[in-house]
Amino acid sequence: MTASSVPHDSPPAGGPQAGRDVLTVTDERTGRSYEIPIENGTVRASALRQIKVGADDFGLLSYDPAFTATASCRSAITYIDGDAGILRYRGYPIDQLAERSGFLEVSYLLMNGELPDSRQLAEYTDLITHHTFVHENVKKFIDGFHHDAHPMGILVGTVGALSTFYPEAKDYTDPRNRRLQMARLIAKMPTMAAFASRHSRGLPYVYPDNDLSYAGNFLNLMWKMSEPKYEPDPILERALDVLFILHADHEQNCSTNAMRAVGSSRVDPYSAAAAAVAALYGPLHGGANEQVLRMLREIGSVENIPKYVERVKNGEMRLMGFGHRVYKSYDPRARAVRQVAEDVFKVTGLNPLLEVAVELERIALSDEYFIRKNLYPNVDFYTGLIYEAMGFPIEMFPVLFAIGRMPGWLAQWEEGLLDPEQKIARPRQVYIGPAERPYSTIGDRSHSDQSFTEPPPKPIGGD
Ligand code: CMC
Repeated sequence: MTASSVPHDSPPAGGPQAGRDVLTVTDERTGRSYEIPIENGTVRASALRQIKVGADDFGLLSYDPAFTATASCRSAITYIDGDAGILRYRGYPIDQLAERSGFLEVSYLLMNGELPDSRQLAEYTDLITHHTFVHENVKKFIDGFHHDAHPMGILVGTVGALSTFYPEAKDYTDPRNRRLQMARLIAKMPTMAAFASRHSRGLPYVYPDNDLSYAGNFLNLMWKMSEPKYEPDPILERALDVLFILHADHEQNCSTNAMRAVGSSRVDPYSAAAAAVAALYGPLHGGANEQVLRMLREIGSVENIPKYVERVKNGEMRLMGFGHRVYKSYDPRARAVRQVAEDVFKVTGLNPLLEVAVELERIALSDEYFIRKNLYPNVDFYTGLIYEAMGFPIEMFPVLFAIGRMPGWLAQWEEGLLDPEQKIARPRQVYIGPAERPYSTIGDRSHSDQSFTEPPPKPIGGD
């Protein structure tokens, strides 16, 4: 696709031609028309820049707060059809991957583009397994966090701090070096995540057991006490592995956008990944699984649901675990999560809040408000119940999401670095603040009742 498009003063000779991949726009300010090429259902925003009223005009910009209608990159990693509820990694349907693959196999697929053969998988598994340990100093600085520090806050710090242990990670241009850092990040996530949890539970840190699978080792890191060898329950081990697969990538979501944007400054991947973890922490993103459980606890029992749903409809709060920017039908991950829940509850016993969740889903899906706004359960609606049944503290829920998402972040980060069209991410803005005004000395400034801690009630610059 080229950014070039041809301005002309009148419609093309012979009138508009159907079937051409071209957008023709007329600027009513000047009467000039422009043809802008359409490729893959998109036009280049930069093509608008030629639309000017005068020679010194900067040219038109597109305004798209929250990127609701802007593609920020071309990507070959994950495909989502939000209306049809389809999610594929590198072309493979998510339900098939969840049913038939392991998490490390899927992480290889995301980063390499193809599923590994047996030799490639064995080699890759060996590589990840042999990078699970972290420098002893990591334990020391985790010790410095407050006793009740949220493990996501600790994870933001520890992931970023890894850059100081591997200064060679700055050389992102060397493919072998880049891949080594990627392997380290995937390998060390469970270790750092479990250390963060153990710190807040006041428990001694446990070292990785490299005889175990990726998910099995994480269970060991979390739960091993005095027994000489931790034996993970195979059903819970597999369930966790599947949950990691379901979270492994989701195209240009908030945290992936953070990973790509921060990575575009050519910082090392540890620093970029710390930004991604921070983005994931938010309650509208990966923090939603934690909020779902808090919500279900607040609702408490089935008879309280109608009142709660009314409060949501009155705009008092959002129904956590519902709604999605892209999915306007059932989130395919949520469907797969329900299957995992069945398997897990067979081992752990039913989570008593399941009844509340199922009834809440039923009521919401038959309510006009949620139907009109296409609000369906997303991946976070049921995962919290599973994690809780497995014994994970509620604060660990977003951390579990972060472990699963790391291969996706890294695949997207590397794809961005290797894309010759990408540059440092730097959006434009529409300035709505004051025009130039004369400086006033402090004694001449008019006093209002506002203080720093009581900011203006209106958005800055708004009417
Ligand atoms: N409960 C009640 N109303 C909602 C909800 C909800 N969960 N989600 C969206 N709406 C309403 C919203 O008020 C808006 O109404 P109106 O058009 O009248 O203003 C309309 O639906 C569209 O919402 P939006 O905020 O413009 O949609 P968005 O694409 O910006 O937000 C979302 C997507 C996921 C942030 C949002 O649906 C939400 O806040 N959900 C709850 C948090 C949540 O579960 N997040 C996890 C997302 S999935 C995991 C992940 O990938 O992070």
